[in-house]
Amino acid sequence: MNIPYTFDLAPSTWIPSRYDNHIIRKLSSMKGQYYDTQAFDRLLAQSDPLLYEVYELSRPSVAGELLHGISIIHPGKVGNEYYMTKGHFHAVLDTAELYYCLGGNGMMVMETPEGDWAVEGFTAGKTLYIPPRWAHRSVNVGDLDLALLFIYPGHAGHDYGTIERQGFRKLVLDEGGEARVVDNPRWVHLEQIKSLLL
Ligand code: 6PG
Ligand code: NI
Repeated sequence: MNIPYTFDLAPSTWIPSRYDNHIIRKLSSMKGQYYDTQAFDRLLAQSDPLLYEVYELSRPSVAGELLHGISIIHPGKVGNEYYMTKGHFHAVLDTAELYYCLGGNGMMVMETPEGDWAVEGFTAGKTLYIPPRWAHRSVNVGDLDLALLFIYPGHAGHDYGTIERQGFRKLVLDEGGEARVVDNPRWVHLEQIKSLLL
């Protein structure tokens, strides 16, 4: 029903007291996303760990609405690359997103189709505004769950394919216990390739 509502966020688990969809993403759904493919295959041969979960409240996918929910990225690594979300551009590129960090330690890796990139850190209370056009991937660089509240326009949609094909320009790796942002050796800039071919 279209009436105002509230929900509570249980401290420490951050699971909302009401939600409509609970999405779970396991390692097997991240094929080709981690740069160390051998570490990925080794881990998957042993088990299929749960990397992250999203609790969504459903609203109509129209411009006047704000889609919102909580994403929880669990701690862990594939090789030396931290657990992370798939990451995406919004299908309607000109749509922004707001993130609020409830708990944990993380980073948001971002880039535009033009090849600009940015990485911002998350600790409890940190709020991140992602302007239109920026693809975004949340990375858990800590030992606890990384819990994030997100809000974005109802008509935004998701483009996962671009990131699946080209990857993000930057990776976040554990180097001797420190989170480091490094170049992705396998990043290809599809926009650049397209413009060379035209
Ligand atoms: C969105 C938000 C957010 C995101 C989750 C999981 O636009 O839907 O950015 O809800 O979906 O944090 O990340 P992935 O969608 O990249 O798996
Ligand atoms: Ni988004």
